[in-house]
Parts: sequence; C-alpha cells; structure tokens
Amino acid sequence: MPNIALLPGDGIGPEVATAAVEVLNAVAFDLTYDEHKVGGAGIDEYGVAITDEAVAAVKASDAVFLGAVGGPKWDTNESGAVRAEDALFRLRADLGLYANLRPIRPLRALYDASPLKRELIEGVDMLIVRELTGGLYYGERGTKDGRAYDTMVYTVEEIERIVRAGFRAAKSRVTSVDKANVLDTSRLWREVVTRVHAEEFPNIELEHELVDACAMKLVAAPRHFEVIVTENMFGDILSDEASMLTGSLGMLPTASLGGDGPSMFEPVHGSAPDITGQGVANPIGMILSGALLLRHGLGREDEAAAVESAVDKALDKGIRSRDLGGTATTAEVTKAVLEEL
Ligand code: NAI
Ligand code: MG
Repeated sequence: MPNIALLPGDGIGPEVATAAVEVLNAVAFDLTYDEHKVGGAGIDEYGVAITDEAVAAVKASDAVFLGAVGGPKWDTNESGAVRAEDALFRLRADLGLYANLRPIRPLRALYDASPLKRELIEGVDMLIVRELTGGLYYGERGTKDGRAYDTMVYTVEEIERIVRAGFRAAKSRVTSVDKANVLDTSRLWREVVTRVHAEEFPNIELEHELVDACAMKLVAAPRHFEVIVTENMFGDILSDEASMLTGSLGMLPTASLGGDGPSMFEPVHGSAPDITGQGVANPIGMILSGALLLRHGLGREDEAAAVESAVDKALDKGIRSRDLGGTATTAEVTKAVLEEL
C-alpha cells in the first residue's frame, strides 16, 4: 500500500489538499496518508518550518503531496529568522530533487482565458523539464566594493541526469535550450545533450534552441514544443512564461523528481492569504498535482489520465471557481470532478 506524506501547509494549502485527497481516493483506493505540519503551521507548532521527524517520515514515504507554505504571519526581514519557505528548500535538498517538471496543457474549456489567440494554443501539450539544484542559483556569489557577482557552474553528471529525465519523458521530440553562443556552461550542456542523445535515446528527435529564440517561439508557435529541457534559471523564466498560456495560476501542477527516495508534487500557486478561509480556492492545480503523483510518483498512468480527463469534462460542463470568473466554491468544483470519475 503506497504511503503518501501529506503536507497541507498554510493558507489555502489545507483547503485544496483536502479536495485533492478526495479525488485521489476516488481512483486509487489503496493509498494511505500521513499528515505533517510544515511551513508556517510547523513554525507555530514546533518553532521550525519542518521538523527532523517530518523529514525522516517524508523520506520513508512513497510520494510527497504538498499544498503551499508561507503567508504574511510568518514574513520577516530579520536575517537568520525562521521562514516558512525553508520547508521547501530543505525538502528539495534532502530529497535530492534536481528535476522540476511543469506540464503546460491549456484546458479546452479555458482557451478564452489565455492571453494568446485560440488558434495558437489549441492542442498545446508541452512539458518543461527544469534543472533545480545547480547553476546560477546555487553558485558562489558575493558583493564587494560596489561590485557583485554570481557564478554558473554545471558538471557533466548534473547535465547528464537532467537531460535523461527530459528524454525519458518524451515520446518524439526534445528541445534542449541553452545559450551556447555565449556561455561555457551552455557549450558543455550542448555537448553532453548531444552525446546522451546519440548513445541512449537515438529514436527521439533532438533539437537545440537558444534561450532567447525559445522565449519568442513559446508565444509565437507554442504547439511546436513537446519536451523542453533546460538549466535552472532559463527553466525558471521559460516555465513562468509558458504558464501564462493556460490563463490561470490556480490550474497548474508541478512535480519535482530525481532523488533515490520519493518525489514531490504540488500546485504552482502559493498560499493565497487573500482568499484563505473563504472556501473559494480553485482546487484544480492541486488535483492535477495528484494526477502527476499517480503518474510520476507511483507509475500509475491510467489513474492519472482518469483524473485529468475528469477535470477536463467538469470544466467542459461549465464549472468555474471565482478565479476563472465563476461562482463555484472549492467543494463544488471538487464534487463536479468527482462526478466525472
Ligand atoms: P499566490 O499564488 O498565493 O497568490 C497569487 C494570487 O493568485 C492571489 O490573488 C491568490 O488569491 C490567487 N490564487 C492563487 N492560487 C489560487 C487558487 N488555487 N484559487 C484561486 N486563486 C488563487 O502568490 P502570492 O500571493 O505571491 O504568495 C502568497 C504566499 O504564498 C507567500 O507567502 C509566498 O511566499 C507563498 N508561496 C508559496 C509557494 C509554495 O508553497 N510553493 C509558491 C508561491 C508562493
Ligand atoms: Mg519562478
């Protein structure tokens, strides 16, 4: 029986987590859940964003299902203070989650919510695979005498493992994104991608794209992309750009994979303090994160696809939470999805 470490967190986190667990229970009857307080909830209860006991329990689980952490109550600029977001950084580091997957699949019923024309986004179904624990965000940095620097470092091993994650997720085409006309890290990146492709994934088409050209193509011809694999900062920027194709933050799931232990699944949105406690949060981002948990965390493609198709159908029939211009509550959206399962 797969055991899920359930970390509802703060704000609307617990509201959408409850909704998503209801949906998971309707397709995967054998899952068990162990809940832990993390983020601000952890600080209030134990004085830390995540306890060592919770980390140990998470490591022993089969998959981690996280709501959202943070909120004004725990925001502080004091240096050295405990921060709710520390729970996320500790989990990513301790679980070795070096691959962040963000599927971008604008839902049929919401094409009109996208800032792009319908003809452009119809049928878009891409996956951005972003390196999450290396590069500029983890390199040496400093400020001195009116001068500041950040360093971008990648090793062959770090590139190999993220690129493999990209090829494994692809059916026919991988677009590797770099800035090889300028950066040494990108030239190494391109060399490693080309070799891994030739040696291990010759049946998948590989193309190289410069990051600036890719940024243009994402809005000019988004249907072109199937899997985009790229380093940490490029992936950070491109995944936020691509997420706008879907029109709403409340709908997007993400998966962080790569360690020897469990992977982590969470919605892209935060704890939404402005709507907390009103029962109006859109649970779809969390529900679709549950689908990713089934697919990438437990290898259950059929159940994952069933959840995704139930969400599509419920939206086709017109259910809309407030962020989508409707009036449905969290519970009503959840019920509409459950009815399609
Ligand atoms: P946010 O994503 O929480 O909210 C941005 C806007 O989107 C708000 O108006 C909110 O009401 C709306 N929104 C977000 N999710 C929604 C949903 N499911 N249904 C309906 N509306 C939704 O981002 P914000 O306000 O910048 O951050 C709030 C807190 O969340 C901060 O403490 C931040 O650090 C934390 N945060 C945590 C993340 C995580 O746990 N991974 C990610 C992003 C932010
Ligand atoms: Mg970002």
